[in-house]
Amino acid sequence: MEFEPFQYMRFAKRLEYADGIFMAGSGMNKPKPGVLDFKPADLSIESLCSNYGDPRNVAWLAEKYATTGEHVVMTAGSSEANFLVFASQLSAGDKVIIETPGYPQFFSLASLVGAEVLPLPRRFEDGFQPDVSELRKLLDDGVRMVVLTNLHNPSMARMPREIMVEIAEAAAKVGALVLVDEVYVDHLKPGDGDESAFSAGDNVVVTSSLTKVYGLSGLRFGWAVGPKSLASTMLDLIDVVDPELPTVTQNMAHYALENLARLRPIARRLHEQNWPVVKEWADAREDVEYFHPPGGITVWLRVKGVAETGNLATVARQDYGVLVVPGEYFQSPGWLRVGYKIEPTAVREGLARLGKAIDDFKSH
Ligand SMILES: Cc1ncc(COP(=O)(O)O)c(C=O)c1O
Repeated sequence: MEFEPFQYMRFAKRLEYADGIFMAGSGMNKPKPGVLDFKPADLSIESLCSNYGDPRNVAWLAEKYATTGEHVVMTAGSSEANFLVFASQLSAGDKVIIETPGYPQFFSLASLVGAEVLPLPRRFEDGFQPDVSELRKLLDDGVRMVVLTNLHNPSMARMPREIMVEIAEAAAKVGALVLVDEVYVDHLKPGDGDESAFSAGDNVVVTSSLTKVYGLSGLRFGWAVGPKSLASTMLDLIDVVDPELPTVTQNMAHYALENLARLRPIARRLHEQNWPVVKEWADAREDVEYFHPPGGITVWLRVKGVAETGNLATVARQDYGVLVVPGEYFQSPGWLRVGYKIEPTAVREGLARLGKAIDDFKSH
């Protein structure tokens, strides 16, 4: 089988074990001991008898999205949810519109199913909002799906509700589905524009998980919520790949979901503590321009005068011991994604090292 390998994931997995100050991650660290105290019953391999996931979790998600369980599919992380959406919705030769810069998994998935990608630019000048009139020009009868993230990875831009509704309406006119990966949206304060796109139209499917904001990547607990017919095809596919979802995960996730409101502010506090440190550094550098994220633990920035940030990131890692993500992985040479989920002193030190790496790189 030929498909575009997910190079960024390979890079990210390796980097996590590399030496240096780790500013490449986009997910929260695991909750500290004492924050989420699983009880022995939460670690049980016994399940409450649905092979498609714990019915309590389906019910929790159905309530969260103000819908019914028939719209909910539980998956191993949002990655599997995205995979199942692509595989259910697209066939070889179909067209799929994908935001760019965009999370590279989407491009690998499109190539896996043999779909043709039409990039939809999200530009710095527009605050990384998708341009709906540009989208309309791309939409024709061959387009089966539009793919977006909210918050936008890599910029963390928040997509306003009006734009989501307009996109859903425009896609509906040609019978296309809209996939919105919302794995970062809980970085916003509750009520501050964090409403799910699921309710923006009958043709919208959203995916998410407990990974990015909650630090529970190891649980591989994710979901998709979308149209009933799509959910049903996704379950057909689940029968092919998952005879059962991991029961321990379902039990632990049940406890985590019950405590989510308590966990959510941890990521917010980290953003509020560290963002001013990042901003101060970036403002002091005339050669750096950045998008001000409304939340999250990463910043997307452009280094003026550097066309190839891939090599810059290698210099930063090898010679200065700081790990950042080159924009090339997000179809954006010249950009870097810099994470700040570490302690403030480490953020300062990491950025100082990055600054030296930039100066060094530019002097050659
Ligand atoms: C937009 C997006 N979706 C999904 C994922 C993967 O999340 P999960 O652990 O839920 O599979 C990532 C990870 O970087 C991501 O950036």
